[in-house]
Amino acid sequence: MKISLRFSDEGKNWVRIVPVFSEEGKKDLAEDVPDLFLWEKEMLQKILEEKIFEAKVGRLYEISQLTEGRLVHTVFMGLGPGEEISEGKCVRAIYGAYKVAMGYQSERVEMKLFSSSKISMDRVFQLAVDAIYQGAYRFDKYKTDKKSLKKEHEVCITGIPQDSMAEFEKNLEEASLLARCVSKARDLVNEPANAIYPKSLAKLAKEYGKGYGFLVEVKEAKEISELGMHAFLEVAKGSKHSPRLIVMRYMGDPTKPSHILGLVGKGLTYDSGGYSIKPSDSMAYMKSDMAGSAAVIGAMCAISEKKLKLNVVAVVAACENLISGEAFKPGDIIGSMAGKTIEVLNTDAEGRLTLADAIHYAIAQEKVSKVVDIATLTGAVVIALGDVVTGAITNDEVFYQELLEASKKSGEKFWQLPSYEEYKELLKSDLADLKNIGGRSAGTITAGLFIGEFVGNTPWIHLDIAGTSYLEQGKDTRKGATGVGVKTLYYLAKNMQSE
Ligand code: BES
Ligand code: MG
Ligand code: ZN
Repeated sequence: MKISLRFSDEGKNWVRIVPVFSEEGKKDLAEDVPDLFLWEKEMLQKILEEKIFEAKVGRLYEISQLTEGRLVHTVFMGLGPGEEISEGKCVRAIYGAYKVAMGYQSERVEMKLFSSSKISMDRVFQLAVDAIYQGAYRFDKYKTDKKSLKKEHEVCITGIPQDSMAEFEKNLEEASLLARCVSKARDLVNEPANAIYPKSLAKLAKEYGKGYGFLVEVKEAKEISELGMHAFLEVAKGSKHSPRLIVMRYMGDPTKPSHILGLVGKGLTYDSGGYSIKPSDSMAYMKSDMAGSAAVIGAMCAISEKKLKLNVVAVVAACENLISGEAFKPGDIIGSMAGKTIEVLNTDAEGRLTLADAIHYAIAQEKVSKVVDIATLTGAVVIALGDVVTGAITNDEVFYQELLEASKKSGEKFWQLPSYEEYKELLKSDLADLKNIGGRSAGTITAGLFIGEFVGNTPWIHLDIAGTSYLEQGKDTRKGATGVGVKTLYYLAKNMQSE
């Protein structure tokens, strides 16, 4: 699938997606829809008049007609009243219409751009490009029956004012790059754990580094041990697949060597829970426990391809949490790179152990000046926020505002959870400096604050994507891995350029 902005009337068949707003009490709505064929206009008039099609969000009406020897399939796309359209509704409508359009197996799909008092044309454009790319995304490499494959096609977005063409071309380039990087992250997460394990994840990171222009250093068990990353190694030691510390560096602003944005992604290529074993139902999708690492890898690709003017170092402590005679056990007391001791009361609270060392490594060794960690950390965040919003914790309000600013561009949603001192009490251990679980209450907060114990004064944001990174049931453009985080981290980096 390819998106272009120039529609050439080559005499081939095509599918047209035509946006239709509804307006209460307005008689001739079809008049408002520009560039219609006469038959489209007459048909639209009729179906609106007779209330066969009410132009509500998500409603579609399809007609086909032989026009000058070509078959033209028109999909009227309902958008509801112009003053009520939201970004979410916009994406839902476009994705729904595009899915229907793809069903015609045509080589060409035309989508007419629109805007309203609520949403500008360039925002609709950005959302549309993303919805179309993500809508076209498939993870079917393991299917032997490729019959279900959709036909290669071009989507042409029309209706852009002539004098804005250059600007939209530029926006298309950025949105396409981001969509490509999001798809990469989705692929990494959708791959099963027998394909993606620490070594293979490190190999892919290296490949992407070569392709997109960032440096990748991979440290193996011996070096990880020399660094003193005991907590990380404890989680890793139950698996035959040995761990890897993946360090990705992009130095886009050599004039400011001490300004480095740190990105730390949870990289559990599989999480069985260890001896605090998960029930089978919750274990089934634990190949996705490296979605945080996929997000930082995807973001690194976008940041370096765009040659952003800032320094970014991303760190992934990749390992598997399994059971064996070597594995760590509930009750063990372990060390960490920062020197703090940890009483492991639950081996399924493993992400925070790997992240504690990864974040300490990023701050102490890579000298990052600000750090974001992104992790599929708690089931509790799924209970609190579902699959709609990513939970966040921070020690720096100003930095968090920068993330929110980035999220306006990315369309990804975040909600900050409180981090009062009282919650830290829950992590106190009788035997060690910390324990790795805080009990049933405030699970997402205590998990985040556990990591916070390892960041010192460095401005830090923790993002818990356990609910938003993988959808068992498909929704909107997304099913399986969502690639959440890639776009927000990219825009965060982009906005930090001028600092
Ligand atoms: N990887 C899980 C969290 C998770 C849950 C990710 C659901 C994706 C979907 C994490 O390692 C975990 O097991 N957390 C435990 C922590 C608990 C033992 C304190 C949890 O949330 O149950
Ligand atoms: Mg776990
Ligand atoms: Zn986990």
